[in-house]
Amino acid sequence: MKAIVVRQYGGPEVLRYEEVPDPEPKPGEVLLKVRVAGFNYADVMMRMGFYKGGPRPPYIPGFEVCGTVIRLCHGVTGVQEGARVLAFPDPSATVGGYAQLVAISAQRLFPAPASLSDQEAGAFPIVFLTAYMALRMAGRAAPGKSVLIHSAGGGVGTAAVQIAKQLGLRIFATASSDEKLERVKTLGADATINYQRDDFVEEVRRQTSGRGIDVILEMVGGEVFDKSLQCLAPLGRLVAVGIASARVPKADVAQLLYGNLSVVGIHLGKLFNRPDLIGEALEHLNRWIAEKKIKPVVGPAFPLREAAAAHALVSDRKNYGKVILLPE
Ligand SMILES: NC(=O)c1ccc[n+]([C@@H]2O[C@H](COP(=O)([O-])OP(=O)(O)OC[C@H]3O[C@@H](n4cnc5c(N)ncnc54)[C@H](OP(=O)(O)O)[C@@H]3O)[C@@H](O)[C@H]2O)c1
Repeated sequence: MKAIVVRQYGGPEVLRYEEVPDPEPKPGEVLLKVRVAGFNYADVMMRMGFYKGGPRPPYIPGFEVCGTVIRLCHGVTGVQEGARVLAFPDPSATVGGYAQLVAISAQRLFPAPASLSDQEAGAFPIVFLTAYMALRMAGRAAPGKSVLIHSAGGGVGTAAVQIAKQLGLRIFATASSDEKLERVKTLGADATINYQRDDFVEEVRRQTSGRGIDVILEMVGGEVFDKSLQCLAPLGRLVAVGIASARVPKADVAQLLYGNLSVVGIHLGKLFNRPDLIGEALEHLNRWIAEKKIKPVVGPAFPLREAAAAHALVSDRKNYGKVILLPE
């Protein structure tokens, strides 16, 4: 089969399209034909060698696919050949989803929502589950509260804006361009801030009459984390979702204590051993999808062989929505 192989950490150019042996499913596993491989920002961090617990080269990246079951191995029950499924290869493993075929434990499969196209289904699970868990579980967001969503035009961001709308939150959204923010408004954002042009701390203070924000989804780290803490309202919660800048922030406990502020982290991968939480989230998300209240925003779709171009696009902050890869 064809797959993207990383033989050394580095820039997008280390993502090489190669012929590799087909994977052989073991007992308890299925073989999937990959229809869509989801790009995730963590793929960039892993490729650069910055991701805690990420794979060592050589490895095939990708931990999210939508695919068709083409073979069942001994011991697999509850899934049929031909089924269209969502699957989550182990992010620390050396064989992932940037490939034409994936062998994977049947326990890491979920049905793909029937009303979504292949591309929408491939753009759905990780960003929506992350956004849902960040808002509901970590952020304890409740109707009438305010939320600040950073990187609102990205994969997690566009999912978070739509979920926040369903939860009845007042949504503040930041992004690097007016073009992205115009599109984020159509998803339900109430107020938008172009952080390249305006200081988002000042804007939040101005637009909330100095009160601040109840819940913040913070994806960048470094200075954005520090400045976000200055935007929290008393009893507010900052949810650390990502560290796209690769600058790991440190919270000042005195600042938290005197402000009655909370900082809480969320890592979706580590929640897959809690099927109760994932199941509850999927139940809500699938219902909203069936009711056409939320919909994956499919960003640029690249042929699998052009994975390097997909990574370069996101690193240049040019993507809107969830980037996906399509094996030929
Ligand atoms: N905790 C979890 O379980 C979990 C799960 C999924 C994703 N994440 C995290 O959530 C964040 C978003 O992930 P995603 O996959 O949906 O990616 P994405 O948002 O589609 O793409 C990244 C976006 O981040 C913004 N950005 C800010 N600083 C950046 C920088 N230094 N370099 C590049 N981009 C930067 C850019 O938007 P602007 O142009 O608007 O700045 C860019 O478009 C990432 O930090 C990721 O690691 C966490």
